[in-house]
Amino acid sequence: MSPDSASNASDLTDGQTDDQPRGSRHLSSADIADLYDDMADRYQRWDWANRLFSGPLRKRAFGDARGRVLDVACGAGTNFRYLPRTAQLVGVDISADMVAAARGELDAIGRGGTVYRMDAQELAFPDDSFDTVVSALSTCTFPDPVAALSEMARVCRPDGRVLLLEHGRSDAELVGRFQDWRADAHYEQHGCRWTQDPLAHFEETDLTVVDSEAFLLGTVTVIEARPTAD
Ligand SMILES: C[S@@+](CC[C@H](N)C(=O)[O-])C[C@H]1O[C@@H](n2cnc3c(N)ncnc32)[C@H](O)[C@@H]1O
Repeated sequence: MSPDSASNASDLTDGQTDDQPRGSRHLSSADIADLYDDMADRYQRWDWANRLFSGPLRKRAFGDARGRVLDVACGAGTNFRYLPRTAQLVGVDISADMVAAARGELDAIGRGGTVYRMDAQELAFPDDSFDTVVSALSTCTFPDPVAALSEMARVCRPDGRVLLLEHGRSDAELVGRFQDWRADAHYEQHGCRWTQDPLAHFEETDLTVVDSEAFLLGTVTVIEARPTAD
């Protein structure tokens, strides 16, 4: 698959993760693509509200991304305006409608860059081709987060960084219990496992977490990782 070719959602790689809500069926990559195609309009319309809530954390997580930057599962391009203007930007997402929205965001903010439709679990880029890989609120929706993180490690230069902003179960018990109670419904509606432990996935990858900090009662974690040295 080349970066220029749109991949066929039904051919996309798939997997299963341990933290999937118990009562729900496993959503494949094709299911997730359909879900986000349906939500792309809403994402665009409400992007201002999303930025109001998550903008400061995105700036904190991605504000010093350098060089050639890959935004994995870029959605409607919400991260783009928080990346330094010197970054050479490439975005990928599995949803064709999200890709269109992300291209619209590049135009809206007057930035160059390229956005491809592509599965994060099977990136069509050579090894070591990005200085920085960023991704927001994504490992919770990847059918196989370990595969996607492994791909981020592969395409990141050995001296580069992987920067993430991820959902997780709150460490405030009442909030955590609310998330547990809504976990199945939230997964069905958004394909999102919001009670995941975002740091747990790294153990099975070639990425080493060098820093992490939780915010918003532990529901969101900013993570800095580096490809593990051989
Ligand atoms: C919760 S949204 C987050 C979007 C964006 N990163 C943001 O912060 O607003 C999750 C995104 O992950 C994308 N996604 C899910 N699975 C994917 C996969 N296997 N490959 C690429 N993108 C994927 C969805 O299409 C969706 O746009």
